[in-house]
Amino acid sequence: MEDLWLSDTNNELTKDIQQVFVSTSALQSRVRELGQEISRDYRGKNPLLVGALKGMIFFMADLLRTITIPVEVDFIAVSSYTNEARDRGVVRVTKDLDLPITGRHVIFVEDVVDTGLTLNYLVNSLRARQPGSLEVCVLFNKATRRLIDLPIRYKGFDLPDYFVVGYGLDHHERYRNLPYVGILKPEVLFTRNG
Ligand code: IMP
Ligand code: MG
Repeated sequence: MEDLWLSDTNNELTKDIQQVFVSTSALQSRVRELGQEISRDYRGKNPLLVGALKGMIFFMADLLRTITIPVEVDFIAVSSYTNEARDRGVVRVTKDLDLPITGRHVIFVEDVVDTGLTLNYLVNSLRARQPGSLEVCVLFNKATRRLIDLPIRYKGFDLPDYFVVGYGLDHHERYRNLPYVGILKPEVLFTRNG
């Protein structure tokens, strides 16, 4: 199955992938489990799922379709000022939420937590708006590089310290459209194409 993806010479992106790390079917079954858990935990609560663009787009889209209770969805977009600012966990909001979250049961949906700096900043800024509750749902947890630890209520997969792409995750904005999560070949990882 995984080899099938990489032997698909029709897909221009696969030549840059060293290994399929999480297959499409593994992603789908884990996401479904998370959706079932959320559906159980939030019955009667009309939760609001909030995603930070753009890495979580596939995760959010699939997760939403496995949730069987009423939910709402909103997005926030951030960009880091500089590498240093990012290292301090300072980011700039480029698109704010459309919906008010005060008193709402918010689930913050993120693609990857690595150092935890981005998540920490976003969770703090959401918490300042006084939601009724706030939990974190993360597809990939890279625990080895964590600088700031935040409780993660829903977690898809633990990931070693590899840089992965696909299923929404990018390398210089590319590879988001791969339907699986793969490891880039080193020669691609360390050059900027394009
Ligand atoms: P943190 O602030 O170090 O936790 O960085 C988290 C952010 O870095 C995620 O939201 C992703 O956008 C990005 N990121 C971290 N690891 C990866 C990866 O392996 N592939 C693609 N993006 C990643
Ligand atoms: Mg992200």
